[in-house]
Amino acid sequence: MKLTSIAAVTVLAASILYSVSLTSSADDAGTQRHTVPVDSPLRDLAKRQDLLIGTAVDYDAFNADTVYRERIATEFSSITAENVMKWQLLEPERGKLDFTAADELIAAAKRSGQKVRGHTLLWHNQLPTWLTEGVASGEISPAELRNILRKHVIDVASHFRGKLYQWDVVNEVIDDDANLRDTIFLQNLGPGYIADVFRWARQADPKVKLYLNDYNVEGLNAKSDAYFQLVKDLLRQRVPVDGFGAQGHYGVQFGFHSASEVMTNLRRFEDLGLETSITEVDVRMIMPPDTVKLQAQAQGYSVLLQGCLLARKCTSFTVWGYTDKYSWVPGFFTGEGAANLLDENFAAKPGYRELQAVLALAGR
Ligand code: XIL
Repeated sequence: MKLTSIAAVTVLAASILYSVSLTSSADDAGTQRHTVPVDSPLRDLAKRQDLLIGTAVDYDAFNADTVYRERIATEFSSITAENVMKWQLLEPERGKLDFTAADELIAAAKRSGQKVRGHTLLWHNQLPTWLTEGVASGEISPAELRNILRKHVIDVASHFRGKLYQWDVVNEVIDDDANLRDTIFLQNLGPGYIADVFRWARQADPKVKLYLNDYNVEGLNAKSDAYFQLVKDLLRQRVPVDGFGAQGHYGVQFGFHSASEVMTNLRRFEDLGLETSITEVDVRMIMPPDTVKLQAQAQGYSVLLQGCLLARKCTSFTVWGYTDKYSWVPGFFTGEGAANLLDENFAAKPGYRELQAVLALAGR
């Protein structure tokens, strides 16, 4: 069957379920389980599965748009700052850390009974210019870079100590050829910087779950194999690594993994003792959207959620924005968009109904 027809069947099944308003009920053993109608917010449906359901939050939109802000509170049980915890935004001027925006999001999350994922302590993108230019000009030596990095990780992780449940400690440290990414950190500090960063993070915040996070690692391929090896190496050196995050940036034009492949991949990391999460899901398409693309999109969201639910220790499923009104996709992928669960007017697309149906049906 072609991808789109599989998607169509799934979506059709979802809409039938939806129309009969499936509810969960007391199971055979008589254990009380809450009855949650399928037409409930994702966070309520996910709660039954012991799964946190999250979204990235655009700080400016959060302040400017009441509808956007209120929907985050009702729909999600976890949030990730889309940008305001990144190094460039925390420390635009050397030595002047500004946590105001991040702290506001954390306070709002607390009021809404939500947990917060930290994103991210170390990434090669969105670094402050004083840092990248200083390293490029030789003004910042490798030894100084190591001190700067240690200070950054310890200061930031200490500030947020006890306030986050997961930290993306390193983001995208393996490249598309499955090698360690060629960054200013690898070049100047050598491969040991990854272990260092995890140890510093643990020192600053003993309880938060420390994650590696990347894209194109949802299924089984050379890149996820490289992560599997890296995690084994780190654990052998007693580096405190707790979690593996697969971002989940999909495009309908590329097709998707099967849910069972996602499950198998997540489970091999869990077998090493890690927990797992799906951390940044969006499913973009070449514009304009049409019915077929929207159905395929629902399938993309579905396989990632199913893979997570089928794994044993997949603790959170986060979408990278939830409305097409605010999305990084059009700015980064020319001609693409419509990647989120709700449209620009906050109306549910097939992907949203699909996630509701999968959560309502899930057995774990
Ligand atoms: C993106 C944000 O969504 C944009 O607003 C920003 O301009 C660039 O970064 N992988 C990640 C995220 O880990 O931090 C990225 O977020 C998307 C890709």
